[in-house]
Amino acid sequence: MIEICPSVLSANFLRLADEVEKVARAGADLLHVDVMDGHFVPNLTLGPPIVEALAGLGRLPLDVHLMIEDPDRWIETYAEAGARRLTVHQETCPHLHRTLGRIAQAGVEAGVALNPATPLGAIEEVLEMVDTVLVMSVNPGFSGQRFIEGAVGRVGTLAAMARRRETSLRIQVDGGVNADNIAALVGAGARSFVAGQAVFGADDPAAAVAALRAAGENAA
Ligand code: DX5
Ligand code: ZN
Repeated sequence: MIEICPSVLSANFLRLADEVEKVARAGADLLHVDVMDGHFVPNLTLGPPIVEALAGLGRLPLDVHLMIEDPDRWIETYAEAGARRLTVHQETCPHLHRTLGRIAQAGVEAGVALNPATPLGAIEEVLEMVDTVLVMSVNPGFSGQRFIEGAVGRVGTLAAMARRRETSLRIQVDGGVNADNIAALVGAGARSFVAGQAVFGADDPAAAVAALRAAGENAA
């Protein structure tokens, strides 16, 4: 019903396999992997070798969020590294229609992400080409930031846009999601949730996954 995607950015990088195991056992749906290039966003994280290693664990499908300039150059690489879903930012894709076509051609699910300041209309014409729209509820770059409330309204507007176009769409929210705001997001139409600090920053990440799911599903 709803998707919970813990973000490895908040995990202990020295114990990645254990961290993944914990959330996999807790019933997480996908593992969210934040790829940052130090150009599009002011942080640098990880690249293809780590994605390949995470895929090699074989525990959770990978939801790869590309916060990089010129993502077209990397689509095949991340598809081959084992991504289940590749999400590019609208702001980095002058030829978004072509980019989404390439992601589909690479045999992975296509996602498109929008920064908080980007108008939703910027992706309206390509909604039919995407499986998932990621609504950023923080400015991308770091985990542990405060949730931007306006994201709830944006989810609702996007859901209405998808209904108007009679296209089915998974709406994902990323940034500051927790057990307190997930219900409002579900109410607005979101069904997929990325959580970094709310999961890996908790004393018991497994319980945190369960709490998010319970709060989300109660609202669905
Ligand atoms: C932020 C990343 C997020 C981040 C989420 O740029 O895209 O995926 O890891 O972490 P929290 O849930 O702590 O905001
Ligand atoms: Zn992310």
